[in-house]
Amino acid sequence: MLNGSAVALDVPSGITLLALLRDHLGLTGSKPGCEIGECGACSVIVDGQVVNSCLMLAPQVHGRTVITIEGIHAPDGGPNDLQRALVEHGAVQCGYCTPGMVMAGEALLARTLTPTREEIQTAIAGNLCRCTGYHQIVAAIEAAAARRVQEAAR
Ligand code: FES
Ligand code: FES
Repeated sequence: MLNGSAVALDVPSGITLLALLRDHLGLTGSKPGCEIGECGACSVIVDGQVVNSCLMLAPQVHGRTVITIEGIHAPDGGPNDLQRALVEHGAVQCGYCTPGMVMAGEALLARTLTPTREEIQTAIAGNLCRCTGYHQIVAAIEAAAARRVQEAAR
């Protein structure tokens, strides 16, 4: 499953998941940064875990559930609460790291809506941002978590 839809296709066995997404499926939200597993710009969620799609071969996701940044949005198709929080907190500057940060944040918030600051820092530890200094990103994830707790209490 890819972003909630079943996908069946033949792919060259040697290509990465990142190449499959970008070059074969037109899903260019996952970014090629270092392409050696160090920057997190290519992060996607596979079976609930954040992975670097530049390090995973495309055939490895056969039969698994993959979510990319294109699969993260509000019910109306616009930005969701985490994406809005990132903008509101000034956590999107050049934006190159942002898709990966969203994926790391979503994977964390799927596990807990009450993450500690340390847990947030750990969750985004594999995602490099050259622009923000990270404080805004951590604050945005905290804010999104708090909003989801409020929503859940309604
Ligand atoms: S592009 Fe995959 S970790 Fe940097
Ligand atoms: S906003 Fe530029 S790298 Fe993070």
